[in-house]
Amino acid sequence: MVVGGASLVGSATAGELLSRGAAEVRLLDNFSFGSDEAIAHLRDDPRVKVVQGDVLKLHQLLPATEGLDGVIHLAAFMTLSMDRDPWSGLDVNIRGVQNILEACRANGLRKLVFASSNAVYGYGPGVKGALVEDTPFHAAGAPPAAILYGASKIIGEQLCRDAHRRHGQDYVVLRYSTVYGERQHYRAANALYIVETHDAIRRGERPKVIGDGSETKHFVYVGDLARANCMALEAAATDVAVNTSGPEPVTTLELVKLVAELSGRPDLQPELVPPDPGKVRLTSGGAFHIDHAAAKDAIGWSPEVGMREGLRRLLAWREGAPHQAAE
Ligand SMILES: NC(=O)c1ccc[n+]([C@@H]2O[C@H](COP(=O)([O-])OP(=O)(O)OC[C@H]3O[C@@H](n4cnc5c(N)ncnc54)[C@H](O)[C@@H]3O)[C@@H](O)[C@H]2O)c1
Repeated sequence: MVVGGASLVGSATAGELLSRGAAEVRLLDNFSFGSDEAIAHLRDDPRVKVVQGDVLKLHQLLPATEGLDGVIHLAAFMTLSMDRDPWSGLDVNIRGVQNILEACRANGLRKLVFASSNAVYGYGPGVKGALVEDTPFHAAGAPPAAILYGASKIIGEQLCRDAHRRHGQDYVVLRYSTVYGERQHYRAANALYIVETHDAIRRGERPKVIGDGSETKHFVYVGDLARANCMALEAAATDVAVNTSGPEPVTTLELVKLVAELSGRPDLQPELVPPDPGKVRLTSGGAFHIDHAAAKDAIGWSPEVGMREGLRRLLAWREGAPHQAAE
């Protein structure tokens, strides 16, 4: 079962599970952020069962998790949603994980894969260089919502560890870096650099780059992440947390130029603008990259799709999906 399955990562993961021969894939979602549209391409497969349910309601999770082999738990509030409604975000990101763990235990599920984030390393001036799995959390100088989000993911990870320690629940934590790809939404602060740039270019406007464009971002293509979720579910690895990032980081200037080029408008030169103090931004202390070597050791995974190819796929999808609107 993919919990929080009706969105960007969940829809790609469900597709990957089906192509790897899963007998049944349940998608549980309360559709607070997800949509029917995001899973429309899966609906014709008789192995897919969509369950309307809320991770805050254990009485819904208990019957929904009966007879399963494992769960990939994605339902969460990210930074921008956390900024709008911190208490609901903390409930879903913490109590939601605990409820999933309770349901796994009650129904004897073999494996849990928990979607964490590079937000567990924090943001702001302390974040630079190589981010490895034991890099400490940096809070100083970062927006409260980003820290609440990162801290809630740290708690979610520890709840998994605690369930392993108390009653042997097998789990793998994957710390995703910023995800991009088909069925991209407007909820992730860093992926906005891609979708807002593409929207501006489609309007014939020059894309905006905040600051001097040297800020680093490290993305991961959603298809690579779908594979990582399945490999973590299948692997013998347990009681481990690993980074899942794309092949290379990019600067925001490189990213915006690449989107302009792939959109056929390299003539639209980026405009450098100062940051808007009213907007939540995820900054760092300089160039950084998120090391994914440990994922290869633990579950045999490494990223395959580079930024150019991943962006080409995302833009092709967006060109074919003109109905989508900013959230
Ligand atoms: N998108 C990224 O850039 C990114 C980066 C790092 C980590 N992550 C993590 O990956 C996971 C999936 O990311 P995404 O972009 O697909 O997220 P998303 O916000 O699009 O999807 C989460 C899904 O969870 C559902 N959901 C929310 N509250 C729920 C509840 N109470 N009960 C049931 N379902 C609920 C939403 O409706 C949505 O379909 C999240 O845990 C996120 O924190 C995402």
